[in-house]
Amino acid sequence: MSDLKIINLVKNFQGMNRPAVNNVNLDINSGELVAFLGPSGCGKTTILKMITGLFDPDNGDITLDDKTLLTTPTEKRGVVMVFQNYLLFPYMNVNENVGFALKMKGIEQSIIDTKVREMLDLVKLPDIGLRKPKQLSGGQQQRVALARALIATPRLLLLDEPLSNLDAHLRDEMRELIVTIQKKLNVTTIFVTHDQEEAVLLADKIALIFDGELQNYTSPKNYYERPKNTKAAKFFGGVNFIKTKKNNNQLESELGNLIYDGNNIDELEIENIVTIRPENIKISDKDEYDHNSFKGLIKSVIFSGTHTRYKILIKNIELECSLQSVGINNIKENDEIYVHLPKNKIWGMND
Ligand SMILES: Nc1ncnc2c1ncn2[C@@H]1O[C@H](COP(=O)(O)OP(=O)(O)OP(=O)(O)O)[C@@H](O)[C@H]1O
Ligand SMILES: [Mg+2]
Repeated sequence: MSDLKIINLVKNFQGMNRPAVNNVNLDINSGELVAFLGPSGCGKTTILKMITGLFDPDNGDITLDDKTLLTTPTEKRGVVMVFQNYLLFPYMNVNENVGFALKMKGIEQSIIDTKVREMLDLVKLPDIGLRKPKQLSGGQQQRVALARALIATPRLLLLDEPLSNLDAHLRDEMRELIVTIQKKLNVTTIFVTHDQEEAVLLADKIALIFDGELQNYTSPKNYYERPKNTKAAKFFGGVNFIKTKKNNNQLESELGNLIYDGNNIDELEIENIVTIRPENIKISDKDEYDHNSFKGLIKSVIFSGTHTRYKILIKNIELECSLQSVGINNIKENDEIYVHLPKNKIWGMND
């Protein structure tokens, strides 16, 4: 349970034409579960390795409760990392694997035994203490690795793509277990993934990283409705982008004037870009809205089960709208309709 601060963190590797980690700043509150999300090679693991002490940064600092971690040796940082491939000790049984950290500390065996049982109960594996890792399934090995990481009550738990080796069904189960345990123990946790859906399901906050740079750091919900830039919006499935010019509190666009309710109006530059989620656009066959209502033409209708997606042309701008399929009218290609962009659902960004 600690506040972690990553300050101006930089890491360079030979042979790369950009820093692997480029001036990253991040505050993680005590007890939070934060996901590091980004494509392969963007620097996620490198940041974790700097937190554990496996790599030294070239610049910047990492602090836990306002004290630098960088001068503390790895084993004294109170940070544990669980790797994708579990790295259980093959010749030790499950009890010995889980109790390892306490044994190293010279703790009495009867106390270790009690604690190991507690941890195996926590990860829902009470009966496998005498088995060797190779006698376990992938999901069981992952849970043992988690129990082993948690036994010494770490200040910080780092999980590097812990679910990527599991099949879809096990992944769902493990996700739930990780969140339950994380909240129960209230341990500050970083969870690395390149799966956007997984990050949304698990995390209190998501740090989106591209090419070593932090793009956006906010709650999952904000990525959908208030992304910091178009890159972040697109990563979360954003498809509607409208260029606008700020004029007092209004945004002028090719569609017409947009009334805007976003609280970041002062931060927007004169030339900016507005986005809206497809599911937040409303359409109607009559002009029934009092603001941000524009006449458009249905270009295509794609039925995809629970939802139907419409591409709509308004002047030269194409927008996508997604409506629940249940009970919708019979809107079809080439219909003229009215499109409504609710003022509290559009969101402006500078780039
Ligand atoms: N020890 C190293 N020596 C040289 N280059 C490295 C080293 N470790 C990582 N890199 C490079 O740094 C960049 C970031 O690597 P990193 O492992 O942090 O990516 P990642 O986001 O964890 O990717 P993945 O999702 O594939 O695990 C990559 O271009 C990688 O090739
Ligand atoms: Mg990695």
